Amino acid sequence: MSIALHPKPLLRQRSDYTYRFNTKTGRHGWLRLTPAYSLKIVEELIAHHAHMQRIFDPFCGTGTTALSASYHGHESATIDVNPFLVWLAQAKIAHYSPEDLAATSSACAVSLDLVKRMAVAPVSPPPIYNIERWWAPEALEFLCLLKAAILQVTRDCSPERTLLTVAFCRSLIDLSNAAFNHQSMSFRIDNQLSMAFDNDMARIFAEDVQFVLHGAAENPSGVGQVFLGDSRNPADITEGQFNLVVTSPPYANRMSYVRELRPYMYWLGFLKNGRDAGELDWAAIGGTWGVATSRLTDWRRPIGHFDSMLLNEALDRIALANNKNGFVLANYVAKYFDDMWAHFQGLIPVLMPGAAVHYIVGNSTFYDTLVSTELLYAEMLTMLGFDAIECRPIRKRNSKRELVEFDVTARWLSD
Ligand SMILES: C[S@@+](CC[C@H](N)C(=O)[O-])C[C@H]1O[C@@H](n2cnc3c(N)ncnc32)[C@H](O)[C@@H]1O
Repeated sequence: MSIALHPKPLLRQRSDYTYRFNTKTGRHGWLRLTPAYSLKIVEELIAHHAHMQRIFDPFCGTGTTALSASYHGHESATIDVNPFLVWLAQAKIAHYSPEDLAATSSACAVSLDLVKRMAVAPVSPPPIYNIERWWAPEALEFLCLLKAAILQVTRDCSPERTLLTVAFCRSLIDLSNAAFNHQSMSFRIDNQLSMAFDNDMARIFAEDVQFVLHGAAENPSGVGQVFLGDSRNPADITEGQFNLVVTSPPYANRMSYVRELRPYMYWLGFLKNGRDAGELDWAAIGGTWGVATSRLTDWRRPIGHFDSMLLNEALDRIALANNKNGFVLANYVAKYFDDMWAHFQGLIPVLMPGAAVHYIVGNSTFYDTLVSTELLYAEMLTMLGFDAIECRPIRKRNSKRELVEFDVTARWLSD
């Protein structure tokens, strides 16, 4: 296999190459998802194209690629298996008129007035486990009233409902005890938020609405489409072919996107119970939460799985590690790469000849075994007939020297 491997001299952690870069950037900063990638990476890959590109992101997440593509006048399509992220990305790439913005401002004022006067029946709190860990009683009461007021004041699917709901999502995190400073998410146990009901909490929501409106005023010029579906079969979901793929797939690191998104998903009704959350994680590539973990024990590699010496050696080392979970973890890693193998095979029908692909992905360690995701992707792309394959290191991921994020890039010639 001929793959260009770049050395990794002086790699830095570079917070500008993480989700942190997006938090103050208009619509990109509406809601944070820790594993979102940096808008800056995307811009470097798409901004220089003089002609309109058809850009595909098979792993939408918060819609970074689709929104950036739209701001640069490109056409884009993106897919995610998580309905909440599809809703969010659709909200982010939508066009909002000055009338929509004005209507949202008034709806915000009317909603807050209803809440202040308690002139609306609160919705029931969401069925999230241990809800008292998330919100102090007065914050929970405020959110239940506010949600009811938004529903009363706005029409279903209207721009006002969408924009106020995005702001509501920001506020529910601002008012929570959750600390989003680490991927695994923890709770502040020292200070339960306790605020003057109709002052501070109302002000937080009003500020969140202002932040959202500021981004909404900047309309993108390109056309984007966001689909709910499984990127192992993109041809069944999208229309036409693409000449550029820019994406950050799930990493093989046991990270659950559903877990981090729980508060939004329960409040907005996308999740009803823990079992649904586990099912969604099982449907997602690399998901490993609740029922997804228990199913891994019985999972076996399918016929036509990704057969790689590099992978098989890593799986053996993980399975035989001196730890009772070695076997399940080896199954987790095997399933991750078999799913990505299915994805790459499914990608080919939606690529134009000459299409460039960029997969922004990090490697992982399991016990002391390094899983070189970038090399395994490169191997899959080689087996499928891509050329010009490169693994370009972008940044160090954390203090562990060997954990690096790469841009795995290749060109599709034709079948
Ligand atoms: C690393 S995140 C993408 C982050 C995104 N680039 C952003 O900036 O927000 C990977 C995404 O892949 C989605 N995903 C996982 N398995 C999928 C599948 N089979 N089909 C489509 N999307 C999937 C997850 O729900 C998650 O949103």
